[in-house]
Amino acid sequence: MCKYYSKMGNYNFDQIINRKNTDSLKFRALKERFGREDLIPLWVADMDFQSPQELVDAMVERSKNGIFGYPFVSKEYYQSISNWQWQQHQWKVSEEEISYLPGVVKGIAFAIDVFSDKGDQIIIQPPVYHPFRIITQLHEREVVINPLILEEDQYRMDLDGLEKLITNKCKILLLSNPHNPGGRVWNREELKKLAEICYKNKVLVISDEIHSDLVLFGNKHIPFATVSKEAEQNSIILSAPSKTFNIAGLVTSYSIIKNKNLRERYHKYLVSNELNQGNIFAYMAIQIAYEKGEDWMNELKHYIEENIKFVDKYLKANFPRIKVVLPEASFLIWLDCRELKLSQKELNSFFINKARLALNDGAMFGKEGIGFMRMNVGCPRTTLEKALKQLMDATHSLF
Ligand SMILES: Cc1ncc(COP(=O)(O)O)c(C=O)c1O
Repeated sequence: MCKYYSKMGNYNFDQIINRKNTDSLKFRALKERFGREDLIPLWVADMDFQSPQELVDAMVERSKNGIFGYPFVSKEYYQSISNWQWQQHQWKVSEEEISYLPGVVKGIAFAIDVFSDKGDQIIIQPPVYHPFRIITQLHEREVVINPLILEEDQYRMDLDGLEKLITNKCKILLLSNPHNPGGRVWNREELKKLAEICYKNKVLVISDEIHSDLVLFGNKHIPFATVSKEAEQNSIILSAPSKTFNIAGLVTSYSIIKNKNLRERYHKYLVSNELNQGNIFAYMAIQIAYEKGEDWMNELKHYIEENIKFVDKYLKANFPRIKVVLPEASFLIWLDCRELKLSQKELNSFFINKARLALNDGAMFGKEGIGFMRMNVGCPRTTLEKALKQLMDATHSLF
């Protein structure tokens, strides 16, 4: 038995699964994105764990039929989302408030189309998931930044700063709840104040809650729409089981909109472009993950917590100049490398050419990410051990 076999023991997250010939972006794009192939991939946000067995079995079983016609969208599909939101986050959601989406980022793009015009301003809070900025720019909206403040080793929102920068051209604020990168799980007070400011200034909040199920270390996710009436009536919530159950390639996202007027406008756009239609595997995967995946998810969270602690302890003991910003959610560690005093180009080159690791460049999340790198720890611990050893060996080249 592998020495790290999960303590609770029902699922083996230590198992190394070969993803090399599976057309995985994380593995196949190394040469294209990082210039070489001999790297341990710890970048794009999917995990190296197999999804729950029930989900895999259902996909195989369905495939055996060999006919892949149009899917019927069942009541049970909607019910599985409502039940999940209630059980995990104590949020009451009804069928009519839900729509299938072909991706959370696409859902953001659709909302930008529906609720803003060219030249309008959209607020983001960097360092933040880079598509927030890219999608906004590609839609010819102006990106307005309200940078997060790094304080006592974690980020907080600059809510005073936010209030000052809003103009009447600001139409939307993009919220990452929990936040990627850094892993902050925003608390009720912060979200309530944010909701109040945005409501008062007629700025619609698009809350991306894709990382919400993977809250760690006893933290609690608060769905944005639940913090106040203002939040409920002035928000579009986007979510998916894709990060939680490692099914990003199955395209299983959805929106939840409480405000009838906003919902009708958004759904009209989706329906008129047939953007609300998924494939048979997507609907199945959501339903099975939410109906049968909870135990698996709970063990996964424990494994991720141990991976995070492992990296933190290792770096503290061996190379404290790189610091872990401890995430409160998800499997992405934000590494503070500012003490190395390298330029961003040198920092990236160090990780790629010396440590032979493929991490996300912190600068892609905004200039606030300069001096940082993002490491994906959704992998077996032996992979992390190997990666950290390579990193340690590489540090000799720095002195
Ligand atoms: C905050 C955040 N939103 C959205 C996504 C991607 O979602 P989708 O694949 O549904 O577009 C990611 C993936 O890493 C993410 O971290």
